[in-house]
Amino acid sequence: MSYPEIQQIKSVIQALQQGELPSDVAFDACMPQGVKRHTSTHFTPVAVAVEAAQFLCAGDLPHPKILDVGSGMGKFCLTAGAMFDQAHFTGVEQRKTLNDVADQLLEACQLNNVRFLCGNIMNVKFADFQGFYLYNPFYEHLQPFSAMDESIDLDADYYEIYCGYVRKQLQNLPKGTRVVTYFGGGEEIPMNYDLVKQSFNNDLKCWQKR
Ligand SMILES: C[S@@+](CC[C@H](N)C(=O)[O-])C[C@H]1O[C@@H](n2cnc3c(N)ncnc32)[C@H](O)[C@@H]1O
Repeated sequence: MSYPEIQQIKSVIQALQQGELPSDVAFDACMPQGVKRHTSTHFTPVAVAVEAAQFLCAGDLPHPKILDVGSGMGKFCLTAGAMFDQAHFTGVEQRKTLNDVADQLLEACQLNNVRFLCGNIMNVKFADFQGFYLYNPFYEHLQPFSAMDESIDLDADYYEIYCGYVRKQLQNLPKGTRVVTYFGGGEEIPMNYDLVKQSFNNDLKCWQKR
């Protein structure tokens, strides 16, 4: 990362820590060019991230652990981590190039309640977390034209396998567990979760385990 990008992410994080809402243009200016072109379609807008995190952090636990399923270049976790310092945010991302950008941004802004892991969500145990964020992570397997790049195998079977894994993990978590989905048809959500709130034209959905 170059000096202007480091300064930019620092000022965006500082604004969030002071309760301000930086624009997406300001946030996206921190990203390298190859990643920036995906922002409007693949990465969560700042205002959406804040509202999602607000719901995820509003449970009974004072220090909830939140998982971003497919964290991309870290926009959700960095935004949420800066604004909600009582919670801890983990992002798991299978594309190493994106996870490397997330790590670089994190190093520049020094948030100690955020971490990024590179790997497949199938290797993550959801029982370690109390809140979950999903920005339609598996959609590219259904619609390959929407994929960011060709670095992973795209196959409709993976959509079913990944949604099934997430559903099974969520199904057995304690009552009150919170999930937010942004876009998508909710295939990852088990029957024992209630839809408790919607916003952003109903694209943002807040779910809670009965
Ligand atoms: C729509 S992007 C959302 C990025 C980020 N959550 C955000 O809101 O800014 C979905 C991401 O999920 C990742 N992803 C898809 N399937 C995955 C899997 N099985 N394991 C880990 N990451 C995955 C993709 O590589 C992509 O970066």
